[in-house]
Amino acid sequence: MKKVIAILLLYVIFAVGAQGQSQQPRLAKQGTATQLIVDGKPFLMLGGELGNSTASALTDLDTVFSTLQQTGLNTVLVPAYWELIEPTEEKFDFTYIDAAINKARAYDLKIVMLWFGVWKNSMSCYAPLWVKENYKKYPRTVTKAGQPQEILTAFSSNNLEADKHAFVALMQHIGKIDAAEQTVIMMQVENEIGMIPDARDYCKEADKLFNSAVPKAFIDYLTSHKSTLQKSLLERWAANGFRTNGSWIDIFGEGLETDELFTAWNYGVFVEEIAKAGKKAYSLPLYLNAALNSRNRKPGEYPSGGALAHLLDVWRTAAPSVDFIAPDIYDTGFAEWCAQYHTAGNPLFIPEIRFSDTNAAKVFYAFGEHDAMGFSPFSIEDINNPQEYPLTKSYRILRQILPLLAAAQGKGNSCGFWFDATNKERTVTLGNYRLTGRHVYSYGWTSQSTDGSPFPEVGALVIKLSDNEFLVAGTGVAVTFANALDNGMVTGIASIDKVLFEDGKMIPKCRMNGDQSHQGRHLRIEVGDWNIQHIKLYNYK
Ligand code: DGJ
Repeated sequence: MKKVIAILLLYVIFAVGAQGQSQQPRLAKQGTATQLIVDGKPFLMLGGELGNSTASALTDLDTVFSTLQQTGLNTVLVPAYWELIEPTEEKFDFTYIDAAINKARAYDLKIVMLWFGVWKNSMSCYAPLWVKENYKKYPRTVTKAGQPQEILTAFSSNNLEADKHAFVALMQHIGKIDAAEQTVIMMQVENEIGMIPDARDYCKEADKLFNSAVPKAFIDYLTSHKSTLQKSLLERWAANGFRTNGSWIDIFGEGLETDELFTAWNYGVFVEEIAKAGKKAYSLPLYLNAALNSRNRKPGEYPSGGALAHLLDVWRTAAPSVDFIAPDIYDTGFAEWCAQYHTAGNPLFIPEIRFSDTNAAKVFYAFGEHDAMGFSPFSIEDINNPQEYPLTKSYRILRQILPLLAAAQGKGNSCGFWFDATNKERTVTLGNYRLTGRHVYSYGWTSQSTDGSPFPEVGALVIKLSDNEFLVAGTGVAVTFANALDNGMVTGIASIDKVLFEDGKMIPKCRMNGDQSHQGRHLRIEVGDWNIQHIKLYNYK
C-alpha cells in the first residue's frame, strides 16, 4: 500500500511539475513558423519599446503605461539596467523591475525584458561604476591603434562572470515574483552588440586567439553544414580551399570580413555563457537584437559581429542558447530586412523599428507575409494622441484577428502587402487564387492619385479561411482575386462584408457592394480607413 501511495505521490509531483513547465512561455514550431507560446497558446506581440531611460522614471510610469494601453499594445519592451540593479557589487536592487512588472499587470500588458548589461549599442554604458572604475579587473577593448574603448572586452572572464552573475540574479528574481503570473514572456540578452570603430578587438588576448586555431566547434559546424552554409561564409571558406585547420586568416583569408567572423564567434561564445546560465535560473525564450549593417558600411563602420543576418551561422553555433536573432530597423529596405531575418529556423521578431506613422502599414506586412512573432516601434511612449495614432488603428483591427493569424502562420495561409510611391502593386498566390494587391491611389479615380499628392505607405494582410474564403485587414489597399488553377474557370466575387470580431466571433457590419467593390471587381480598403473585410469567391465559365 505504502508503495502505491509513494508511486501516486511521485506521479502527482511529476504531473504538476510537467504542467508547470508546459505553461512556461516557450517557443514552438507550427509548420515553418516559430511561435511564442504563452499560457499554452500562440501569442503574437503587438508591441512597442520604451525609450531607454523611461523605465527609471518611476513617478511617470502610470502616464506611460496608460498611453501604451490606449495604443492597443499587448506587450511592452522594457530595459533592465545593470547599473541600477547592482549599484554596489553583490547588492541587488530590483525596484525598477518590480515597478515595471506591477504596472504591466495593472495595464494588462506582457513584458519582453531587455538586459542592458555588459553591452548596449556596442558600448558598456550600463555597466555599474564599480565595474567601469576597476578597469584593470574589468578590461576594455583596444583599437588597432592601441586606444582603449568604453567597451568591455569579450576576452575577459572577469567581465563575463560579472555580467553573468547579475543576469542570473535578475532571472532568479523574475522567476521568484513572476513564475505564477508570467508577465515577463521573453528576454533579450544584451542590446545591439557590435565592435566599433574596428571590426575586431585588438587587446592582447584577442590578438592571441585571432592568431590561434579556429575553434573545433566552428570547423565541425562548417563541415557538417557545408551544403546549407550562408553564401558569404561559404565563399570565404571556399576561396581559402575549404581548410579545416589553421588560424582565422588561414581559413578565411585576410580582411574585415574575417575580423568580423572572429568578433561574432567570440561575442557568441560570451553571450552563450550568459544565456545558458540565465535560462537555468529561470527559463524564458531568449533572443538578441542587432544594429543593422545598412548603407553599404563596412564591418567596424557598423557595429561588427552583432546578431546580423549574414552571421546567423556563426551565432547559431557559438550561442545555441540564444533562440533567435532580430533586426532593429531604422533604415530603408524594410521588406528586405524582414526577408533576411525570416529564414529557416529564425523567426521574424522586430523588437525595434523607427518611430513613425508608417509603421501602421508595415505591421500588416510583417505579420501577414513573414509570420512575425511581434512588431515593436521604438520609443513608443512618445505617441501624443494614442486614440487617433495610426498604429493604434492597425493594432485595433489586428487584435481582433490574432487567433486566426496565429492559426494561419507557418502553413502558407497568409500573405502581406506593403506599398508606397514606388512599390504600388504585387501579385502572390494564396491557396487556389492569385491575389494582386494595389495601392488604392494607383486607381485613377481619386484626386490624390493624379494631383501630385504623396502616396502614403499602406498595407494589408490576407488570411485564407477556407478554399474560397479570405479575410483582408489593413489600410489603403485594394485586392483582386484570380483563379490560379489551370482549369479554365474564371473567378468572381460572391460577397464581401466589412466585419468586426467580438470574442472571436465574426460579425458582419456592412455588405461592400457596388462602388465599394468596384462593381464586383475587387475588395478595397480606402486610404485613411482601417478595417477587416470578409470575401467569398466563386468560379464560372
Ligand atoms: C537602437 C537601440 O537598441 C535603442 O536602445 C536606442 O538607442 C535606439 N537605437 C535609438 O535610436
